[in-house]
Amino acid sequence: MNDTIVVAFSNQKGGVGKSTFTVLLASYLYYVKGVNVAILDCDSPQHSLNTERKRELSDVENSPHLSEMAGELTAKCGRQPYAIVPVKLEEAVDYMKLYLESEDRPRILFLDLPGTMNNIHVVRVISNCDYVFCPMAADKYEIESTIGYCNYIREQIITGGQNNLKEVYILWNKIDARERTELYHEYDDFLELLNIEPLKTSIPSSVRFKKSLSVNPQKLVFRSTLFPPDKSLLRGSNIEQLADEITSIIGVKYGEED
Ligand SMILES: Nc1ncnc2c1ncn2[C@@H]1O[C@H](COP(=O)(O)OP(=O)(O)OP(=O)(O)O)[C@@H](O)[C@H]1O
Ligand SMILES: [Mg+2]
Repeated sequence: MNDTIVVAFSNQKGGVGKSTFTVLLASYLYYVKGVNVAILDCDSPQHSLNTERKRELSDVENSPHLSEMAGELTAKCGRQPYAIVPVKLEEAVDYMKLYLESEDRPRILFLDLPGTMNNIHVVRVISNCDYVFCPMAADKYEIESTIGYCNYIREQIITGGQNNLKEVYILWNKIDARERTELYHEYDDFLELLNIEPLKTSIPSSVRFKKSLSVNPQKLVFRSTLFPPDKSLLRGSNIEQLADEITSIIGVKYGEED
């Protein structure tokens, strides 16, 4: 059995897309690519992803159409939906250690974290991740704050050794297609000077990111913990490219034995 790779989308800023990417990647990799994943929802006390899963389960129960879709998906995948485990932030590391030794450990464990760094528990949890990806929009204050965050992780956690963390990457999110692309290249050159690597894949700003099952169960679903992103909405979202790039970085292959 392969070891679990622990991945977190993290940033000290709130609302940058951490939970969005956690769900989209977990669902795409599990339901479309067959990679065994789980989510540890450490964003206490609200546990928004665990709440989202519960709401979705109730939507499915109350809708014959969604129930049928869920049944077909389970038959196709040959397994139940992936686990979303709510855990208190301060108990996350201990829980994770036990979970990763258990028989039902996943190939990739995604951690959903709160948007803060002023918390000793967040630092401890990040030290126990293998890779951290920091979503960031092209906003002056968000860039400054994210660079500070990446530098902190680099200097205090990676360079210090004694932990699992191998690398931290920037993920450009909410890219406005109308903005000049040269501007982003200029930002990338600047990040290179600071030795911070952005992923090649960037994510456009798009209303489809708000199309979640829990908000609108009657329509095409992009974001759901129970279903894969709808194919027509995946096109142009760059989520497939993001999944390819991230799995290549963390060394997980599609179709490998669990
Ligand atoms: N590429 C995108 N285009 C449009 N909206 C987006 C995009 N990415 C994320 N969003 C939206 O931004 C909002 C914040 O996203 P999300 O909740 O994932 O952020 P977060 O970093 O987890 O926030 P928090 O720190 O509060 O946990 C959501 O409404 C989400 O739909
Ligand atoms: Mg969140």
